[in-house]
Amino acid sequence: MTITAKKALLNYLEFLQSNGFICLDSDPLEALGPASGGGPGAPSAAHARPIVVHSAAKVDASPMTPPRPRNPATTSGSAGAAVPSAPSAVPGPPPAALRRELPQTWGAHLSRAERIQWIGDATARAETCRACQLGAQRNKLVYGDGDPEAKIVFVGEAPGGDENETGIPFVGRAGQLLNKMLNAIGFKRQEVFICNTLKCRPPGNRDPFPSEKAACEHFLTEQFYILRPQILVALGAHAAQYLCRSELPIGKLRGRWHEYRGIAVRATYHPAFLLRNGNFKPQSWDDFRAIHGRYVELNPGDPRPIWTK
Ligand code: URA
Repeated sequence: MTITAKKALLNYLEFLQSNGFICLDSDPLEALGPASGGGPGAPSAAHARPIVVHSAAKVDASPMTPPRPRNPATTSGSAGAAVPSAPSAVPGPPPAALRRELPQTWGAHLSRAERIQWIGDATARAETCRACQLGAQRNKLVYGDGDPEAKIVFVGEAPGGDENETGIPFVGRAGQLLNKMLNAIGFKRQEVFICNTLKCRPPGNRDPFPSEKAACEHFLTEQFYILRPQILVALGAHAAQYLCRSELPIGKLRGRWHEYRGIAVRATYHPAFLLRNGNFKPQSWDDFRAIHGRYVELNPGDPRPIWTK
């Protein structure tokens, strides 16, 4: 395993542990063994101890899968083969190796190339996912689209008919409106990242079932881990309720800032809703202006022109 892959995996394990998804018994830095190319005499990956991963109390569904090893030939017997064992009674403090970086950093250290690689890995895993019925029913998987280093990530509900045909989120009428709203706050679509709470289309564009959202959630969380944006924008009630951990209606969640695991969250109306209810556009514009304001505040060297009358 390369040093970069090892570092990415360590950070990911830290993220899983710090968010209560897993509990690690051993120091994964030791367990992962030396990086490949560690020189003659360096112990081989075959000698590395397995990482013992326990389910933590908070785990409710399938945990996120770490990225697939880039070169299985150099990683056999190591992290790719985490060994499940009996749950530990009391999770201990995180090993020193995991305390080096705060959870807030998440994937912030990943290079562009590493993000692209990881997104590719995750897409391949999602392609074969059959954790709910939608995987077998859809035409194309809609994993997400945009800049892997985007500072703003938009989260919609689920792919619709156009997205199911193209594999790209928000390409229909709602997507065209979203593009216009992005342009109005000085962004091109390809400068942000766009995804959905579900990666597969529910038949007839029905609302996602809670079980489908639960089954798909780890892909979304993993996306946030890889991208580690500054701002998350929830489009519509499904994404808003998930990101704000609230059952309030979108009208009550929009208009103020929330936080999701250290990331600023703004909830706003779904563009498809705005197409049907144009009188809500001014509120939506207020939200987009707030998103613009926050972005400019966080990135003073990157002023963005905002549309004014
Ligand atoms: N509506 C969504 O929520 N997502 C899409 O990708 C398209 C329409």
